Amino acid sequence: MSAAPRTAVTVRVPAKVNVQLAVGTARPDGFHDLASVFLAVSLYDEVTATATTGDGPTVSCEGPDSDQVPLDRTNLAARAAEVLAARAGITPAVHLHIAKNIPVAGGMAGGSADGAAALLACDALWGLGTPREELLEICAGLGSDVPFSLAGGAALGTGRGELLTPVETGGFHWVFAVAHGGLSTPAVFREFDRLTEGTEVPVPQASPELLAALASGDPDALAAVLPRSNGLQPAALSLRPELAETLEAGIAAGALAGLVSGSGPTTAFLVRDADAAAKVAAELEASGTCRATRVTASPAAGATVLA
Ligand code: C5P
Repeated sequence: MSAAPRTAVTVRVPAKVNVQLAVGTARPDGFHDLASVFLAVSLYDEVTATATTGDGPTVSCEGPDSDQVPLDRTNLAARAAEVLAARAGITPAVHLHIAKNIPVAGGMAGGSADGAAALLACDALWGLGTPREELLEICAGLGSDVPFSLAGGAALGTGRGELLTPVETGGFHWVFAVAHGGLSTPAVFREFDRLTEGTEVPVPQASPELLAALASGDPDALAAVLPRSNGLQPAALSLRPELAETLEAGIAAGALAGLVSGSGPTTAFLVRDADAAAKVAAELEASGTCRATRVTASPAAGATVLA
């Protein structure tokens, strides 16, 4: 049975870090096959969907980087509303307000998160009660990372990252260093292609060591595998060599391990506990090698309708 329609619905949605990102060669459709181990972290955007009398979705955004967020139909939140409305045969008469805290173009799936959040918010606003499997299918059509933004927790993503299998994880503490400016995901994949041209690129596979470390909840075990786990890291560092200094500064501050988050340029640091997180964040900010830091924990729940 569908829930009764409401006049406004707010959905909270987490950012992600890829604790493993094994990248294969480019496929005929231009995407790369991946073995991506996603972990949702406690850094959230909130999307509020409000009923309007208009004939299409409108978007507004607040937050430190809101001037970099597109407010037109290229915003995945607007696309999500349009796709869901078209499937239901209704008009997407909705305003989507994004309270943005996830770095923009930062390799933390911020845009994907807003797409997943808008989808869930509109589904509740319009009282559609769309089954979970269908919501995940719509997410996959919106973008490779969008299904995980809906799901949250920890999952292995195969295909182009959209085919999810939940994986076990203990709790971990993280510090993220937000870089100056963003990086374009397609540009990072193109740089990966350039750097690997003429080499044998293995079929991407999840690392058993990494999955065991994740399940164990032992930060030292996870730290031992993280530095080699992001296949896009060499490409991100090639485009933004200064990120090497951020990684060094985080380790010097006491992080157990550091890596580029997804396609970057945000860098992620695994730390032992909340006290270590506060110290590493303060030292990273003082180092001048990043624009800001965010202290988080994992895993975090996926997109959730707030009461
Ligand atoms: O799926 P999404 O729209 O987020 O992907 C953005 C871009 O990132 C794609 O157009 C493609 O250039 C690149 N990409 C890729 N392989 C993937 C995921 C993304 O090459 N598995």
